[in-house]
Amino acid sequence: MNLIRSPFPSLSRGLVVLAAITSALLSQESRPVDTKNPSTVADFQAIDANREPYQNATSLLAALQVSAGDWVADVGVGGGYYSMRLADLVGEKGRVFAEDIAISSWVNARAKAFNLHNVEVVKGEADDPKLPADRLAVVLIVDSYHHFTNYPAMLDKIRHELKPGGKLAIAEYSSAEHRSLPRADQLKLHEIDPALVRAEVEHAGFQVVRCDDPFVKWRPGVGNTRGSPTDLWLMLAIRPQ
Ligand SMILES: C[S@@+](CC[C@H](N)C(=O)[O-])C[C@H]1O[C@@H](n2cnc3c(N)ncnc32)[C@H](O)[C@@H]1O
Repeated sequence: MNLIRSPFPSLSRGLVVLAAITSALLSQESRPVDTKNPSTVADFQAIDANREPYQNATSLLAALQVSAGDWVADVGVGGGYYSMRLADLVGEKGRVFAEDIAISSWVNARAKAFNLHNVEVVKGEADDPKLPADRLAVVLIVDSYHHFTNYPAMLDKIRHELKPGGKLAIAEYSSAEHRSLPRADQLKLHEIDPALVRAEVEHAGFQVVRCDDPFVKWRPGVGNTRGSPTDLWLMLAIRPQ
């Protein structure tokens, strides 16, 4: 065998490793964006692009008045978009509980891609989000409340998981023409009248302090692809002291 020996063996090995890392990085950068099985920052950014026109996400988060160091929860976390945004707001000393009854692989992939060390994924149950008691500054529920099969139990648990004075924020879709339908029929359209939710939240012992209806007005062709004009509303309620 005719081996050519390098006079600088460790330098050669170093160059081989560097070449391998560079090629891995280049292949990741150059692969097309994958919105079906997202794993990179670019994948999630493509998926998240409609949050501002669709839900005024930055204004929605500003309404929560989250402070650095807060413990907060995103109930019905779905793919984890709001948990990611909340992680930035609470900072390194805060904590975000990303809760759902069915944990999507997207949540963990997102946490890895964005290096979210302050996000804890929690698998809850239909009548119990399993969050720490008397501790949370904010519980955010976006487009998920209408999925709750046992909303009285969920509201009762959440009230005890918020600290006194803590905020419950619910955002949901509703179109004026569907508000006269029975509750169950609205849910089939993935909508719910804020007046129904206000009554349910107050019955559970919360004090409703704000309801923006609409919070985002439906506009044709802007993010919200629902067929009929469906506005997004936002309600804030407090756990009394
Ligand atoms: C439309 S997705 C949520 C979207 C997410 N909040 C977002 O803005 O991307 C509705 C989610 O609610 C969850 N869900 C349904 N019932 C639930 C319950 N009782 N507790 C927690 N999550 C629930 C579903 O598993 C689903 O992930």
